[in-house]
Amino acid sequence: MFKGAQFFYFTGTGNTLALAKAAAESLEQQGITVEVSNVLSSLETEIPEFVGVFFPVYGYGAPRVINRFLKRLQAGEGRKAFVVANAADNPGTAATDVGLALQQNGYKVMLADWVRMPSNYILGRPAIEDDKAAEVVAAGEGKVKQLVTALFNPDLAEPSLGSPSNPFYRFAYWVFLKSLKYAPRFYKSTAKCNGCGACVEMCPIGSVTLSSTERPVWGRGCEHCLRCLNLCPQAAIECTVFTKGKRRYTYWQGRNIKSIE
Ligand SMILES: Cc1cc2nc3c(=O)[nH]c(=O)nc-3n(C[C@H](O)[C@H](O)[C@H](O)COP(=O)(O)O)c2cc1C
Ligand code: SF4
Ligand code: SF4
Repeated sequence: MFKGAQFFYFTGTGNTLALAKAAAESLEQQGITVEVSNVLSSLETEIPEFVGVFFPVYGYGAPRVINRFLKRLQAGEGRKAFVVANAADNPGTAATDVGLALQQNGYKVMLADWVRMPSNYILGRPAIEDDKAAEVVAAGEGKVKQLVTALFNPDLAEPSLGSPSNPFYRFAYWVFLKSLKYAPRFYKSTAKCNGCGACVEMCPIGSVTLSSTERPVWGRGCEHCLRCLNLCPQAAIECTVFTKGKRRYTYWQGRNIKSIE
């Protein structure tokens, strides 16, 4: 008898949490209890017999915190698992690679797939307009509900690990992971900064502190999630010249950024 599920997520700007919650909602409508947990929280309790892992794609792979979480996660011992990555347009083989890691840890991986969501990577293109973003989000939430609901349909639930892993994506991802240690030096506050401290509060890793002159200082551990940059109320954070003058993105548009998770 199936007892329940636990969905683990990491999010920078809210898309991933929205997907995990949408997926949980669709299972709860079928009477299945789902706990939605941040991968950064402790893993004290015994995990249930069905596990979902949700994350944004970074450099065609998973955020480093997801890799660390996978190392901490207890052995699957035959438990079922699925992976839902989300990306702006090219997920590489991130979902498959996380699925393989779960498989190696004893999980029976039922699904490793991805969902399109609005891009928060404004070093490339600026964020899309709110109405377009709402359409992409609605389609993404619809797709994740379908994917997860199908896992519980015995006629549809065939285990699948998605596309095979690819050396190009693996190399690009390796470069991304290597570059993370330099990330803090590329973040700067501008004259628009009023020292409010929201960037300190909101960083999921705790990488930002305020200096004695009340200006943010970026330190070790930054995951390059772009939350501080996209959510700063004054748009006073830049990461290289490529973010200058670009429209910001957050799923939490218009919400209280001190209580986002
Ligand atoms: C550092 C970084 C790297 C990214 N790399 C990719 C990528 O390789 N392919 C892609 O399609 N989107 C990429 N994106 C976009 C995000 O995966 C996408 O916007 C995601 O929905 C953000 O989720 P979140 O709101 O939960 O943080 C990247 C975003 C960041 C911050
Ligand atoms: S959130 Fe923005 S305005 Fe507030 S301290 Fe940080 S950089 Fe400055
Ligand atoms: S410092 Fe900014 S970009 Fe880096 S992890 Fe924290 S919120 Fe994300």
